[in-house]
Amino acid sequence: MSRRARSFGMVAEAYERFRPGYPVELFDAVMAYAGRPVRTALEIGAGTGKATRLFARRGVEVTATEPDGSMLAELRTHVPASVTTVQAAFEELRPVERYGLVYAAAALHWTDPRGRWSRVAALLEPGGVFASCGGPIRLADPAVEQAVRAARAPFLVSDEIPSPDGTPAEHDMQWPGTELQQSEWFTDVRQSVLARRLTMSASDYVGHLSTVSAYLVLPTSEREQAFSRIMRVLPDRVEMTADLTVHLARRRVAD
Ligand SMILES: C[S@@+](CC[C@H](N)C(=O)[O-])C[C@H]1O[C@@H](n2cnc3c(N)ncnc32)[C@H](O)[C@@H]1O
Repeated sequence: MSRRARSFGMVAEAYERFRPGYPVELFDAVMAYAGRPVRTALEIGAGTGKATRLFARRGVEVTATEPDGSMLAELRTHVPASVTTVQAAFEELRPVERYGLVYAAAALHWTDPRGRWSRVAALLEPGGVFASCGGPIRLADPAVEQAVRAARAPFLVSDEIPSPDGTPAEHDMQWPGTELQQSEWFTDVRQSVLARRLTMSASDYVGHLSTVSAYLVLPTSEREQAFSRIMRVLPDRVEMTADLTVHLARRRVAD
């Protein structure tokens, strides 16, 4: 795992406090696509359990997997008792059971691409559903965005994660839909976008940045300087666009 992939545990509590949760529309989109009741699910990179809750509170028996012990400890305090937790990276999962749904929220890009889809397929029942969601959280006001960009420039050019397979932003199908379309294991690949807009105080926005891996891997003094420079250019209320791109695919029935 890369340093960025391993960076979240040191801010597990802040992650839980400042990162947004997931809307019920995400659950609805997955269930509508499944077209049949989903009883069990395995979640990859569950973090503090923000997406775990979405599914577990609506009757799905979720196995939440997560490599970082601090994230998993935080997760356990926020999810229903029905959730099973497993401390493991995606690459370490050994399929002992097959699930109706395998999903990842803002986590799949951290996993090793080698053998990714055969590993997911091995965890899914034939006809089972794979779902992945994520997307950048961006400042809605271009003037504020420009000011923040300038404030962090001495330390960081961009805090976003580039497309894992280099798909240009203007292409209709984005990663991981692109990989799913090429995988022998999956069919009926769909991509949709759930529009989200968030507003938070300037200090909560900086709290949110304190959970972003690009900042977490900076040396402490640079991180602190970046945050105080950013804080100085923010308005009292910060508006953000946080659209969620959702990818769905179905495991082929025949092995
Ligand atoms: C941005 S967080 C997302 C957490 C949670 N899914 C959410 O949406 O709030 C990414 C998570 O992926 C985990 N992660 C990193 N590398 C991983 C890997 N190889 N396999 C599984 N999870 C991984 C991190 O520990 C972290 O908890």
